[in-house]
Amino acid sequence: MIPCFILIHCQKGAFMIASLYEEMLSKKSVIRTLSEFSAERGKEIGYDNVFDYSLGNPSVPTPQAFTDILIRLLQTETPTKLHGYSPTLGIPSVKQAVAASLHRRFGIPYQATDIFLTTGAAGAVAHALRCITVPGDEVITFAPYFPEYTAYVNLSGAVLKVVPADTAHFQIDFTELEKVISPKTMAVLINTPNNPSGAVYTTDTLQKLADFLAAKEAEYGHEIYLISDEPYREIVFDGKASPNPSTFYNRSIMCYSFSKSLSIPGERIGYIAFHPAIEKSATLTAMCGQISRGIGHNCPATIMQLAIAEALDLTSDFSVYEKNANLLYQELKDLGFAVQKPDGTFYIFPKALEADANLFSQKALKYDLVVVPSDSFGLPGYFRMAYCIPTEKVERSLEALRKFVKTEYQ
Ligand SMILES: Cc1ncc(COP(=O)(O)O)c(C=O)c1O
Repeated sequence: MIPCFILIHCQKGAFMIASLYEEMLSKKSVIRTLSEFSAERGKEIGYDNVFDYSLGNPSVPTPQAFTDILIRLLQTETPTKLHGYSPTLGIPSVKQAVAASLHRRFGIPYQATDIFLTTGAAGAVAHALRCITVPGDEVITFAPYFPEYTAYVNLSGAVLKVVPADTAHFQIDFTELEKVISPKTMAVLINTPNNPSGAVYTTDTLQKLADFLAAKEAEYGHEIYLISDEPYREIVFDGKASPNPSTFYNRSIMCYSFSKSLSIPGERIGYIAFHPAIEKSATLTAMCGQISRGIGHNCPATIMQLAIAEALDLTSDFSVYEKNANLLYQELKDLGFAVQKPDGTFYIFPKALEADANLFSQKALKYDLVVVPSDSFGLPGYFRMAYCIPTEKVERSLEALRKFVKTEYQ
């Protein structure tokens, strides 16, 4: 595909760029389509009876302490402060609070000048890509991956290259990575804990990746950035923590979001943290402000920035996700699915019972089970269940799952 930034210089550039977006209309997100199906079906049989595992929308409430912060801000701050424009790069005291919190937690001496506040991880990744690539540069990611990466990367003018999955453990297949990396590679985009696999990269994986990238930087004679998309950082099971990529590799760009950690995806708030060891970290942060001007992003709402500055150590209660993960994993195993136990997130990613996961997912709909076929995650033959739904509904869905498997596949 010709990068859109090259098209912009064509005589009919505007038309061609518009057509690029128009083409995307025919490639509508399968996740959104299934979610819309669930809503429609819900009107017929009651949404309670639709086992909707399509959308990754948090189902546990935002912590009361966060709501209390918002109420206090509304009651004590002046409306002009709370609802006014934010500085382009974010409110300095908020950036300072984020930097200090990351320093405490990961031991990396971030400064406010390394932090840029964004509208969630989506805004963070889109800005990070534009900071460090020019049209035609390659960005590597690993299957299975979040389908929106295709849009984030392609519409920045860079080219997305996908490393085939390590289906044994959903870590990184370094033999395959070696085949995909090239002198055009400017960034590697990872997501741990992972949507859709639920896997967390181990310290061994992250150390190997850091060593691999450092060796490739030396070989190619240019920087290779590690963009770490981490909206599920806090959702890890069995009392474990998720090893943080930025502690392994200096040229890391952390893309964080409060969407899942505080169950506030509609509020659109997150940040980029450029590793302070990146020589031009402060420049990259400042460049994000210019990128914002170009794409009309602007900062997240002032009130949200002020609220998250006081909530950096807070999370929702994720015990429901862990309970749901265990219930589904056990049932899927018992039914004979090849499936890995999720380390975290609120996704599970079993292998479908036939080669075409689209057909599998279509058949499941007859039982009002809405699961997402894996083709758009870059690994056909699997399906994703987003179990951010009430446990009681998961329990009821197990009967439908058993009936589906018995009737269609036994
Ligand atoms: C892996 C991954 N990255 C990024 C996002 C974007 O999230 P947000 O922009 O709400 O932070 C999501 C949302 O589901 C996701 O799963």
